Amino acid sequence: MNSTRREFLAKTGLAGGGLMAASLLRGAPAPAAAATPPTSGGVRRQHFNMCGYAAPRLERVRVGVVGIGNRGGGALPRLKVIEGVEIKAICDLRPERVAEGLKRLAGTAHTPATYSGKEDAWKELCARDDLDVIYNCTPWPLHAPISIFAMEHGKHAFSEIPAAVNLDECWQLVETSERTRKHYMMLENCCYDFFELVTLNMAQQGFLGEIVHGEGAYLHNLMELNFGKSYYQGMWRLKQNATRNGNLYPMHGLGPIAQIMNVNRGDRLDYLVSVQSNDFQMGPKADELAATDPFFTPFAGRKYRGNMSTTTVRTVNGRTIMVQHDVTSPRPYSRIHTVVGTKGCAQKWPEPARIATGHQGWLPEAEVKKLQEKFTFDLVKQIGATARKVGGHGGMDFIMDWRWVNLLRNGLPLDMEVYDAVAWTSVGLLSEKSVANRSGSVDVPDFTGGSWKKNKPVDLALKQRA
Ligand SMILES: NC(=O)c1ccc[n+]([C@@H]2O[C@H](COP(=O)([O-])OP(=O)(O)OC[C@H]3O[C@@H](n4cnc5c(N)ncnc54)[C@H](O)[C@@H]3O)[C@@H](O)[C@H]2O)c1
Repeated sequence: MNSTRREFLAKTGLAGGGLMAASLLRGAPAPAAAATPPTSGGVRRQHFNMCGYAAPRLERVRVGVVGIGNRGGGALPRLKVIEGVEIKAICDLRPERVAEGLKRLAGTAHTPATYSGKEDAWKELCARDDLDVIYNCTPWPLHAPISIFAMEHGKHAFSEIPAAVNLDECWQLVETSERTRKHYMMLENCCYDFFELVTLNMAQQGFLGEIVHGEGAYLHNLMELNFGKSYYQGMWRLKQNATRNGNLYPMHGLGPIAQIMNVNRGDRLDYLVSVQSNDFQMGPKADELAATDPFFTPFAGRKYRGNMSTTTVRTVNGRTIMVQHDVTSPRPYSRIHTVVGTKGCAQKWPEPARIATGHQGWLPEAEVKKLQEKFTFDLVKQIGATARKVGGHGGMDFIMDWRWVNLLRNGLPLDMEVYDAVAWTSVGLLSEKSVANRSGSVDVPDFTGGSWKKNKPVDLALKQRA
């Protein structure tokens, strides 16, 4: 069913979702009022189609990085070695993190200007007239405000996941990107992991047949980190878990599957249902800690997000996707990554990754290895070894960063646009609504304004800089 943006928000009651969480972060800017998009026949009319759009080619890519915490601090060593990148400015609320960032760049040609010490120092960075890209690694409630401000100030916006903390922000990102014709890319690094790319190629070459079903997840025990006093600045991640519900982080599992299914590029997410367990871990842990440490008193005696969230999405073309989220249970890390087609099946976790073409069982390891080699994109053949060396989650972070820099320098469309970012993010936001309604079905809006019918699938073919 198609909905106008306004009808959709009214119907789901999600317009203000996440605002409470945002206000918990002292100084987080209030989201701007959402603009009402024009509609035609009940479908949002696009200002301009960003899918397939190529911004004017850049000789050098001048980058400003905001948020030099765990993730932003890890991005600097990658960005500093990618040809064509100039790190011109860095910003963090905490001066010591900026100093740490400078240390990571010491001895290189990158001598960025620094911004720090106040909540909105990032605005000064974004307003500079010598930057092309804002690379945003701040806590979730700042993702959309910084990205929107960056695009309004003429920069391409690259943001850590998720794209937004409520649906209103999702629509604002779409409208700002279309109006300003600035790229918005959510930095979904898992789309660039080695086996995920192999399965994308397998699907695109028809090895798996028609894709019927996919499964993805974020199963990562973060209890120690979320309850650590200094790991996440200002305990932002625990606050998110204490004030929200549903799947907070669907993108890692969903993104690669959505690309394989051509979501927003021939298919699109139609509706979802979500079930969620109770919280058996975070509340008791907060109470236990607060009993001896007053630091945890504000976190005690409250209801936390349920531990296991399971969402099933159906696409307009009739495929299904299961997405899970569990950041509290003592279990090995997994994003599942199962792809099921009419001719075969592939699954990454539990490792080692496997492939099957029938019910007899998984193919022998040697055959799987051969298939992996056969379906490795040229892009990975070219930069895979460097990626593994430079690192970042085993190399996928480097492949992602190298790729978008390369595309901007060639004046080519990006692999992911704003529609992908908000569609994947919205599954989490809408799971909250489904859970609140005894797992009732919830429509996923068409952020593309109907252009999903003609948009081309992601094309990972390597195009060299001329
Ligand atoms: N894609 C991945 O694999 C991956 C992995 C880890 C984290 N992340 C994402 O990266 C983001 C950051 O996570 P993290 O672990 O680095 O958290 P973090 O708390 O270590 O880092 C956030 C940084 O933002 C800074 N900050 C906060 N408010 C600010 C403001 N107003 N202006 C400027 N800086 C501000 C903090 O001081 C901190 O240094 C999150 O969105 C997280 O989900 C993604």
